[in-house]
Amino acid sequence: MVNQITIEKTKKPKEKPNQDHLEFGHNFTDHMFLMDYTEGKGWHDARILPYAPLSLDPSTMVLHYGQAVFEGLKAYRTEEDKILLFRPNKNMERLNLSNERLSIPPIDGEFIIQAIKELVHIDKDWIPTKEGTSLYIRPFIIATDATLGVHPSHSYLFLVILSPVGAYYPEGIKPVKINVESGYVRAVRGGTGFAKTAGNYASSLKAQEDAEKNGYSQVLWLDGIEQKYIEEVGSMNVFFKINGEVVTPALNGSILNGITRDSIIHLLKEWDIPVIERKVSVEELYGAHVNGALEEAFGTGTAAVISPIGELSWMDKKMTINNGEIGELSQKLYDTITGIQNGKIEDKFGWTVEVEAINVK
Ligand code: COI
Repeated sequence: MVNQITIEKTKKPKEKPNQDHLEFGHNFTDHMFLMDYTEGKGWHDARILPYAPLSLDPSTMVLHYGQAVFEGLKAYRTEEDKILLFRPNKNMERLNLSNERLSIPPIDGEFIIQAIKELVHIDKDWIPTKEGTSLYIRPFIIATDATLGVHPSHSYLFLVILSPVGAYYPEGIKPVKINVESGYVRAVRGGTGFAKTAGNYASSLKAQEDAEKNGYSQVLWLDGIEQKYIEEVGSMNVFFKINGEVVTPALNGSILNGITRDSIIHLLKEWDIPVIERKVSVEELYGAHVNGALEEAFGTGTAAVISPIGELSWMDKKMTINNGEIGELSQKLYDTITGIQNGKIEDKFGWTVEVEAINVK
């Protein structure tokens, strides 16, 4: 296993973007982290280099068969000028589960967290400070064998890139409109639904494009077998407040095990608000809407944080939720989770991890 990171700093620092207009994932910092995997040698040559394009052989496996996994986490700057990460160990656990599903060799999560801390520290001046902004961290692994045979690659490249971001949706914390997808499916039993792998997102794009054409921000996926039970939204897990109780689809192998999702469940339990992980059918949801029992709906994710849902469209039926406005619980959850992440609210759960420079050569 690697334990040293070599560093080459840029000689041409880039101009930083205006914090008032940070679109999600459009700007990248001055440096990136890289590490290679070679069969028989393991992960090696951990390095931080100036951010630059990669050079890949046109036959590189990832370009053809999508053997790729990724993660998403964020760094926040507190009022005391500390830099915090949020539950990075959870990202590393999930990355290794994705690796296992995609036949990619495991990584040493502790070492990668150290590497992320070092990279974030080097590019710390890129962490935006404006309310609602943060530094998005994107670790990812790609298969790099230069061959067209369909088999797991023998070599891989691990990278981490950093992007100063604002809200994921242009709506910000304003409720979004979501279309319940009744044609395409995202994941099937035994598939890759729980893994954070490129192909899951590629196969979601057509439905997303159709939804956008009709004025919806994203797609709410139903299960791939009966197309009856709610799974997740394109880039978020999903929660519903029905008759005072919070319900979210149970993890069943085809839903992403979201870190924000898990944190929300912890917060609700701490507040003694009933929260249940179970199957939720779209018919049940529509029934709750008709009876006036569907009080709030919101998505959760690292990029999206808490995103209230103001309208759901299912076939020819429309569900307007809480008059299209953010609900009280969604707002409280947003304020609390972002407060913990920004160091403004006490972190009772020990979720935040401070970034301090480590001594690497
Ligand atoms: C995240 O929330 O970090 C995601 O990866 C969702 C999306 C941007 C792909």
